[in-house]
Amino acid sequence: MKLHKAYSFDDVMLVPRYSEMNSRADADLSTSVAGIPLRIPIIAANMSSVCEDTMAIAMGELGGLGIIHRMCSPERQVQMVRAVRDAGQQVGFSIGVGADWRERMEACRAYGCIVCLDVAHGHHRRVVELLDAYFREYQDYPIVVGQIATAKAAGMFIDRIPEKYHRSVAFKASIGGGSLCTTRIMTGYGIPTLQAISDIHEAHGHAISIIGDGGIKNPGDIVKSLAAGADAVMLGNLLAGTDEAPGNIIKAKDLLYKVYRGSASFGDKALRGEETRNVEGEEALVPYKGSVKRVVSGLLDGVRSGFSYGGASSIQALQEDAEFVEITTHGFAESLPHGK
Ligand code: XMP
Repeated sequence: MKLHKAYSFDDVMLVPRYSEMNSRADADLSTSVAGIPLRIPIIAANMSSVCEDTMAIAMGELGGLGIIHRMCSPERQVQMVRAVRDAGQQVGFSIGVGADWRERMEACRAYGCIVCLDVAHGHHRRVVELLDAYFREYQDYPIVVGQIATAKAAGMFIDRIPEKYHRSVAFKASIGGGSLCTTRIMTGYGIPTLQAISDIHEAHGHAISIIGDGGIKNPGDIVKSLAAGADAVMLGNLLAGTDEAPGNIIKAKDLLYKVYRGSASFGDKALRGEETRNVEGEEALVPYKGSVKRVVSGLLDGVRSGFSYGGASSIQALQEDAEFVEITTHGFAESLPHGK
């Protein structure tokens, strides 16, 4: 049996570094993903209960990006993409490997700025074939390729994609780390998100941008993702339950919630009229959180603070010689509030 150790967010901490930052506000969080400039490294997940036009407009206003999901007809998708563009914000849209990918591409590309190829297992012949056609037809139109979780998968795409297009490509890592994912339970496969980011970054540097996606629970996980090599993170759970996320507020036992559905969950498949087999995601009620601006600004306060502990005024500085330590269960317990 070939066996390696793989680390998740809570297995490690970043080692604090000498800092000359006068204020957390000095942390420049700007980044670029597949050549698309962003003022903050946060992308709303292309999920039906996270990102439609309202969320994408708000994320654009905040300096991040929203990617409109594909769990709807191409007509409905382009309507949403257009609405974001009409509101003056850049926006992404999602396609799958199914037969309608070109239709969605043709409908949305004039209004969107980036396409996200949304495939549960991206290291697959169908993705390779689609990308061969994609680069012939759409050349340097920015594209996110996901999900991948290994340096080997990244290397295969880097070798195959013509070098002149590398700047317009991003990888989305990892597999099975999402808060509602059951992929690892159902299949036994997966790589912790932090490890996937780090493995791809260590092997390939910034040849292609990296989006850390799945299992990000707090600002500290965002800082760890960026320090390990991600150019941005994609958030599902942290943005679900906000006013801008699709769906109604639900009241149960005097508390307010919204529904958050995995893209491969029974509910999401049923809503799309698909067969409800091969379910690899759950559905959950998440607490209602109010405006996404409040949520994101809370996250960014933590992230900026993280940059100051790292003595880093930019994402690039944070990544340079970033040092992690593996922590013990006692170390993890000490990381949580424990004084009561
Ligand atoms: P978080 O942890 O932010 O993760 O909620 C969001 C990411 O989870 C992935 N995703 C899924 N993975 N089954 C899966 O295995 C699913 O049903 C599913 N739905 C979403 C996706 O990468 C998303 O960005």
